[in-house]
Amino acid sequence: MADDDTTDDDDASEPKRYLALNRTSWDKVAHSTKGRTALPHYGPLCEGEEELGLLGDIRGKRVVEIGCGDGRSLAYLHERGAAELCGLDLSSEQICNARALARERGFGAELHTAPMEENPGIALGHYDLAISLYALGWSVYLEASLQHIASYLRPGGVLVFSWEHPVFSCLKSRGKELILDKSYSDEGPIESMSWNGSPIVMHARKLSTFLNTIIACGFRIEQVIESDLHESESGLRDYPRRWYSKDRAKFMPTTVIIKASKP
Ligand SMILES: C[S@@+](CC[C@H](N)C(=O)[O-])C[C@H]1O[C@@H](n2cnc3c(N)ncnc32)[C@H](O)[C@@H]1O
Repeated sequence: MADDDTTDDDDASEPKRYLALNRTSWDKVAHSTKGRTALPHYGPLCEGEEELGLLGDIRGKRVVEIGCGDGRSLAYLHERGAAELCGLDLSSEQICNARALARERGFGAELHTAPMEENPGIALGHYDLAISLYALGWSVYLEASLQHIASYLRPGGVLVFSWEHPVFSCLKSRGKELILDKSYSDEGPIESMSWNGSPIVMHARKLSTFLNTIIACGFRIEQVIESDLHESESGLRDYPRRWYSKDRAKFMPTTVIIKASKP
């Protein structure tokens, strides 16, 4: 696997190591991912599909989800009449949960345990819609992942994805103040201890990197949304030290949502 997101000094096996660390970490938290990153939500404290209507009429559509987690977005799409569903996720635990949810809600879905940087056998030129909610940014090789997504879509097919806004990721709380904690311009892999106490690797990327990579993979960008704070969002307490607090979200959108189409 090539990786244009790493520096020349990086060992060629590093992306594989990152994937292995992230897989272990996601397997550990698979039972507890019930946040605001599955449809109808696009992210914490931001407008969702009911407000934004980015997906249009789902009825009869073939949809592939990249980083499908426990399948809650697939269930939402099924309820809105999607004709065919396919989901891919790095974590076997997440896919296991997605299978259980599909059984419980009575829908069929082709599910793959695989990294998005590879195609595990997903049909080419077949899908009307590709979605990825708070997942595409986990890619260790963004260009390869987007090229695969483009190859799954039919001409005229649409990609909608959301991710934490890259500026929001640089903000940190200091008492009641928000400070820029790191340079927005520094891109590349960041290894840290995750919320579950095991190591993870995320890639810092500027918004322009996402946009330019989407364009380089042949998409036409239709809409970029830096959502306003969605006031009716509840369930997250409002205090500054919490990562997704209302204080922070008032100051800076938590989430960027990008809609693009394949010509
Ligand atoms: C924040 S969760 C969001 C998933 C889904 N939208 C939800 O809310 O359940 C990110 C998901 O991306 C998956 N993931 C991380 N890196 C991945 C990769 N390289 N390829 C495929 N999936 C990946 C994780 O296993 C996890 O299920």
